[in-house]
Amino acid sequence: MSKNFVTGIQPSGRLTLGNYLGAIRNFVKLQEEKDYDEFFVFIADLHAITVSYNPSDLRQNIKKLAALYLACGLDPSKVTLFVQSEVHEHAEIGYLLQTISYIGELERMTQYKDKKVKQVEGVSSALLTYPVLMAGDILLYNAYAVPVGLDQKQHLELARTISERFNNKFGDLFNIPIPLIQKTGAKIMSLQDPTKKMSKSDPLEKASIYLDDSEDVIRKKIASAVTDSDGIIKYDEKNKPGISNLLAIMACCSGKSIQTLENEFKGAGYGEFKKAVANSVVEVIIPIQKKYEELLKNQDYLNKVLDDGAIKASYFAKKQLSKMKRKMGLERKK
Ligand code: AMP
Ligand code: TRP
Repeated sequence: MSKNFVTGIQPSGRLTLGNYLGAIRNFVKLQEEKDYDEFFVFIADLHAITVSYNPSDLRQNIKKLAALYLACGLDPSKVTLFVQSEVHEHAEIGYLLQTISYIGELERMTQYKDKKVKQVEGVSSALLTYPVLMAGDILLYNAYAVPVGLDQKQHLELARTISERFNNKFGDLFNIPIPLIQKTGAKIMSLQDPTKKMSKSDPLEKASIYLDDSEDVIRKKIASAVTDSDGIIKYDEKNKPGISNLLAIMACCSGKSIQTLENEFKGAGYGEFKKAVANSVVEVIIPIQKKYEELLKNQDYLNKVLDDGAIKASYFAKKQLSKMKRKMGLERKK
């Protein structure tokens, strides 16, 4: 059985340091390890339209995410980069899998419960079936593993359930995909409320570091990050969530372990520590921004990468979808 990796990110606004450290950076690492047959990385635009959005912003965000993937180091000769809606099999498999997904299990999804209460124009049925589409994204390439951040674990578990259910009902076809969640950086927290995840939809600007923040803004945001008053730089998520989050961020950005950083900053003040955290973040983000600006100027290249990616992804998706439909009693001529 082939060993394929699949993952995606929604083009729904400015990406945060959490997206980079929890997800994209890990994709690049896996790309370099090259322990896979195919690696599909897509722009999850069909997921982004499950909540209200502005079409012209979405069109921009799709291109921006493509440029950002490349700026962060994804290499189109090693991974297949494409836009989800350009491979129509995604929508089709999403529908087919709905027939074996239960409303009850979808209503239990934490992300659905969180997003549901934030909707002002009514809750779209696609918001409820979002995890089924996500399961489809994964099964369409018969993924062996799915690199994601911690917040997607529940969706991954549902994808495993749906995959198993399909195999039991219609005969073996799908792998049971495993989540690849890295330890440090799996959940970067808000700078203003370190018990909450850093999120691109946080209305509080200071809560998140965005990948397009200027150096000055990054430094200011870290300097004003919420900490505690006991003055000790030690990793303790429960009692010191702010400091623990900064330690995790710096560990990810500097490549040093949390333990090493604790030793390095023994006896140091929070001000000094925050400056060092900011330096490590700036060193990571600024070079990405430079590449990103260049890439955005080169629309022909971006389009070529996405066109090629969609052709390749379609080839795999089509074959798998046909096998699936055959098992379900569809596909009259096969
Ligand atoms: P989203 O922003 O929900 O489209 O997430 C895109 C990817 O980034 C997913 O793999 C998430 O798990 C990951 N991610 C988002 N926010 C964070 C965060 N604060 N910390 C770590 N990973 C994150
Ligand atoms: N739901 C994911 C998120 O918000 C994005 C996503 C869509 C995804 N389809 C996927 C991630 C398939 C991994 C595999 O982050």
